[in-house]
Amino acid sequence: MTGRLRHKAALVTGGASGLGRQSAIRMVEQGALVCVTDIDGERGEQTAAMLGGRGFFLRHDVSSEADWDRAVRTAVDRFGKLQVLVNCAGVGLANDNIADCDDAVWDGIMDANLHGAFLGCRAAIAPMRGAGGGSIVNLASVLALRGASDALAYCASKGAVRLLTKSVALHCAREGTNIRCNAICPGYMDTNMVRAFIDGTGEEERRRLTALHPLGRMGDADDVAHMVVYLASDESTFVTGAEMVVDGGYTA
Ligand SMILES: NC(=O)c1ccc[n+]([C@@H]2O[C@H](COP(=O)([O-])OP(=O)(O)OC[C@H]3O[C@@H](n4cnc5c(N)ncnc54)[C@H](O)[C@@H]3O)[C@@H](O)[C@H]2O)c1
Repeated sequence: MTGRLRHKAALVTGGASGLGRQSAIRMVEQGALVCVTDIDGERGEQTAAMLGGRGFFLRHDVSSEADWDRAVRTAVDRFGKLQVLVNCAGVGLANDNIADCDDAVWDGIMDANLHGAFLGCRAAIAPMRGAGGGSIVNLASVLALRGASDALAYCASKGAVRLLTKSVALHCAREGTNIRCNAICPGYMDTNMVRAFIDGTGEEERRRLTALHPLGRMGDADDVAHMVVYLASDESTFVTGAEMVVDGGYTA
């Protein structure tokens, strides 16, 4: 443990898998205490077991305001404060386009990706003020910066998360809260989300997605987890309202 997040109390949503799980692990390595939340109880408990007693799991649907109240209250009760929120929970590409995206697909993606991030930012402000400041990290995507014809709702949700982030950051700065809010825009990362998409489309799709990244590979969860640690830490105290692109050169 090198202590870049020493004594910081954090809540990481979507922590049962992929980027959320790896972020929780790296944050704990740097001295944080982490409340991991997710709708997937079994895998969420597995993540908590990887945190060496410095974290716990809570079942939490990010699209539910009541769940957010409970999650934030529980984290503050356990840790005495909340200084970091990582809004990582999300659902992935649905192969939807403007001609055939039905309402259920649209609503499901918006609820988890956008409404979840909105509720999380709103719920975190008061406890972070109480702690003297904090850092909110929202997972957007390169698909917040570029469109994709077959990822309609996902692009719309992540584009909105990117600008939600900037609005939250400016409000918090204007109010003098010492709360920062930043977005991370990953390229395609080799997690369950992308594997599920590839499983539904075929290995040719893996090659196509890999080729989008000039560095010649998809990202892995650590590529994002290291950025989360930086944004959560006091090394980034002059960084707010930013979109940190972690994409192997995709958008370059
Ligand atoms: N993997 C990528 O290529 C990639 C790229 C850009 C952005 N992202 C974003 O990063 C985040 C994490 O993605 P990942 O690759 O780790 O995916 P993942 O599927 O491995 O993990 C997502 C987690 O979110 C949880 N979740 C889904 N809906 C939820 C809800 N309503 N409430 C609580 N938990 C919920 C899932 O159970 C899962 O554990 C997502 O927001 C995703 O959109 C991923």
